Amino acid sequence: AQTTNSGGNSGGGESKTISLGFSQVGAESGWRTANTKSIQDTAKEVGFDLKFSDAQQKQENQIKALRSFIQQKVDVIAFSPVVESGWDTVLKEAKDAGIPVILTDRAVDSADKSLYVTFIGSDFVEEGRKAGQWLVDQYKDSAEDINIVELQGTTGSAPANDRKAGFEELIKSNSKLKVIASQTGDFTRAKGKEVMQAFLKAHKDIDVLYAHNDDMALGAIQAIEAAGLKPGVDIKIISVDAVKDGMQAASEGKINFIVECNPLLGPQLMEAVQNVVDGKPVEPRIVTIESTFTSEQAKEALPSRQY
Ligand code: AHR
Repeated sequence: AQTTNSGGNSGGGESKTISLGFSQVGAESGWRTANTKSIQDTAKEVGFDLKFSDAQQKQENQIKALRSFIQQKVDVIAFSPVVESGWDTVLKEAKDAGIPVILTDRAVDSADKSLYVTFIGSDFVEEGRKAGQWLVDQYKDSAEDINIVELQGTTGSAPANDRKAGFEELIKSNSKLKVIASQTGDFTRAKGKEVMQAFLKAHKDIDVLYAHNDDMALGAIQAIEAAGLKPGVDIKIISVDAVKDGMQAASEGKINFIVECNPLLGPQLMEAVQNVVDGKPVEPRIVTIESTFTSEQAKEALPSRQY
């Protein structure tokens, strides 16, 4: 299918396929796989020429990809920045080349907001708050200290920074809730398992695990079971994403509470790209609507879960 591009490079209203350069973080989690599929499928549906590049969780690869998109003179660049900092130079290069940039999923900390058109994605601080609120409610009457371990996402990434901050903001209202260890598991199952093993070795009295995504929680569950403990019972588990595997574990009572993070950003992204090319106004912040799941709710939602 062809898409009409009445502005930008084509001029004069002639028909032209829109080219979109997209730099993805990597393939570190079930969430990411679903996000990639949503972007690729939707680009195909609307007939955009998608140039897709996988950065394998490395910022230097993303910067290279963005520069290559600039060289190729794509109509629009979109990317999900692996970390928050260090983007100003390459974003300025895109701006100087007259190529609009759209952020998806993760934010950058650039002070100059004119370097990108919009940021489409979740409110990660709010996700952390939802996780913290559940814990506050669970332990509101506790007379004893509640020892929490935290598996953080990729160091320096917006979801790791924000989910930590939102969670801490809420749990500080109860001095019994204590984070006794916090380390990155890089959003992967393997790292989640490895770090949880170390946590279990160092601390005999863990009450709660807060994992910044389902994959790390699933890795940690393997470590907890191998240590002869019951996930969800001996150690309560909170995670973020609500991908199918996470929802499955929640429906089995191994994860007690999941905060949803919706990866299906393809339709919102393609709509924004079309509007940018057509010269129509685009909101500077497009927030994804999300919910939460207890074990019971996960059991109910699982059969119709898309990802
Ligand atoms: O940026 C979104 C986060 O990245 C997801 O929560 C996590 O699973 C992914 O790797």
